[in-house]
Amino acid sequence: MKLQSSIVRAVASIDLAVTNLAESRAFFRDVWRLDEVAQGHGRVYFRASGPHFSVLSLRQAERPGIVRIVLEARDRAAVDTAFQRAVATGRAVDGPPRVLATPGSGYGFGVLDPEGRNYSLVHGMARHEEHGPVHDRPSKITHVNLNSIDNDASFQFTTDVFDFKLSDQTKVFRFLSCDSDHHSLGLSFSDNVCLNHIAFEVPDIDSVMRGIGRMRDHGYPIEWGPGRHGAGNNVFAYFCGPDEMPIEYTAEVEQIDDNYHVRKPEEWHWPPGRVDQWGVVSGPSERVKRAQSSMPFVEGGHRLD
Ligand SMILES: [Fe+2]
Repeated sequence: MKLQSSIVRAVASIDLAVTNLAESRAFFRDVWRLDEVAQGHGRVYFRASGPHFSVLSLRQAERPGIVRIVLEARDRAAVDTAFQRAVATGRAVDGPPRVLATPGSGYGFGVLDPEGRNYSLVHGMARHEEHGPVHDRPSKITHVNLNSIDNDASFQFTTDVFDFKLSDQTKVFRFLSCDSDHHSLGLSFSDNVCLNHIAFEVPDIDSVMRGIGRMRDHGYPIEWGPGRHGAGNNVFAYFCGPDEMPIEYTAEVEQIDDNYHVRKPEEWHWPPGRVDQWGVVSGPSERVKRAQSSMPFVEGGHRLD
């Protein structure tokens, strides 16, 4: 079975609403170790060490939340194809594909999924020169996991419109791939449609461990980890950032190809007392469990540009 999407190459960036822009800005720059790359329309844009123009934008708001998931399209034709599919399946769009006036520009459009999440699909955004991963710094967003009440409808949307592929299913999550990373999107079987967490990739386990120490130094203790997940086989460390934003440093995400065996929920087993492969620590803290079901999508209807 083919596991690469014909439409999406990667999760490019996430737009967030924050209640204290100055605090969050300083955090993502000085502690999380992203770099500011642009400002405009009341938003601050950050890049990682990889080639994506930006991986995160912040805007001031009364309440924290996730505004949008920006997907990178494989090519311009993929944007047009996804737009036609979105319209044909009755999804609300913010207008036809167009050249965007936002920093980094590109050609794209915005669309609401069946549970009210804002996505956009963009091709041709500005890119930074590729220098390879930088030790102790995030290189990209490797995945974003979302809680889902109507998991079947959201899954159908991501596969029908964006051609995401199911790469594994556990009792808790459907994992979806678009390229060689085991998952770029996760849809949990849940009782809410909040953000579950955003994972930033760092080059190696040492960078994850240094990130844990740096976060602790700045008053953000680790809330789950370090550990190694089952699905995706990635090393993880979870934190609650400013506004209790659920964020993860991750490394060594499994690389898959079309020969990968897609497992079903009954194929996943943990030994008693275990929820990860290492068993160094027990499961997630109550605090991060709360954070993983308290960050809503900001109500739809925002134009991408
Ligand atoms: Fe994750």
